[in-house]
Parts: sequence; C-alpha cells; structure tokens
Amino acid sequence: VEETYIMVKPDGVQRGLVGEIISRFEKKGFKLTGLKLFQCPKDLAEEHYKDLKGKSFFPKLIDYITSGPVVCMAWEGIGVVASARKVIGATNPLNAEPGTIRGDLAVQTGRNVVHGSDSPENGKREIGKISAFLFSFLFSGIGYKNFCLSEELMILK
Ligand code: GTP
Ligand code: MG
Repeated sequence: VEETYIMVKPDGVQRGLVGEIISRFEKKGFKLTGLKLFQCPKDLAEEHYKDLKGKSFFPKLIDYITSGPVVCMAWEGIGVVASARKVIGATNPLNAEPGTIRGDLAVQTGRNVVHGSDSPENGKREIGKISAFLFSFLFSGIGYKNFCLSEELMILK
C-alpha cells in the first residue's frame, strides 16, 4: 500500500493546529500508521530537504524546521501521496485554494504549517529516515482495520 510522510511543522504545533491537520487526513479516509512529536535535529532536517540545498532560502528553511517540535506521521492508502498534497495545497499559502490546509490556515511560504512527500519513493524514503532516527515510530503488530479504505464501507447490513 502507498504511504506518505506528513509532518506538522513547528508553526503548526505552536499555533495549536495539530488536531485540525490530523482531522483533515482522517476525514478524507486515510489510515494513520505512525505518529510522534519530536525535535528535528539540524542534520536530519538537511537530509529531509536535501533536494533544496543550494536554494537561497535553504538556511532559513532549516532554522524554521528545527525551531521547535514537529509532529511526524505516516499515512497510508491508495493514491495517498498525491491526494495528501491536494489536501495540503500549494507551497505558497496565498496560492493555495480555500479548503486546503495551507489555503485555510497559512499566509507565508516560510510558515506553511505542514509537509507532505512529493512521490511514493520519497514517502518511503522519508518514513525510513525518520523511523531510523526515532527507532521506529510506526504502529507495528497486528495493525488495525480502517473501514474508510475498504469497500466494506459499502456493506450496509
Ligand atoms: P514541503 O511539503 O514542505 O516539502 O513543501 P512543498 O513540497 O510544497 O515545497 P518544496 O518542497 O518546494 O519546499 C519545501 C519547503 O521549503 C516549503 O514548504 C517552504 O516551507 C520552504 N520554501 C520553499 N520555497 C521557499 C521560498 O521561496 N522562501 C521560503 N522562505 N521558504 C520556501
Ligand atoms: Mg516538497
């Protein structure tokens, strides 16, 4: 099953938006498979955003992400990576549609409250990196059934 790495950034945590953000992914029908509040160290933040190394805003981005605790999450579902990015909205919140997280809750690119992986490969890679750092934050064992992901939702009896 496809999985994506979602991270509530420090501004989202400080503004008390964690519940709101989780709620939007839950209501959409994705399955939460891992969650942890943690302080992202500088080297992990640099690794996470390594594709942006060299951009003029990179140092500011690393300062932002490491400025306070973040909530890291793994979510799974069919097409979850692209769909989660739609739920999140455009990078610049002023361009993000109303109804998206950034469109409703943010105004600045440098304070856009949440991250979502941009491809299934990066989803797996990012979850792997954070998991290794945290000695796993994924829910293991027998797991649980999420009826939103199942056609059993349609069985009415
Ligand atoms: P993420 O989900 O966080 O990866 O955002 P994204 O995929 O929508 O955008 P991208 O990966 O291109 O950039 C990563 C993050 O860097 C953005 O979410 C912003 O927080 C930050 N960023 C991108 N462009 C700018 C910029 O021009 N100025 C500033 N200050 N920050 C930027
Ligand atoms: Mg990105």
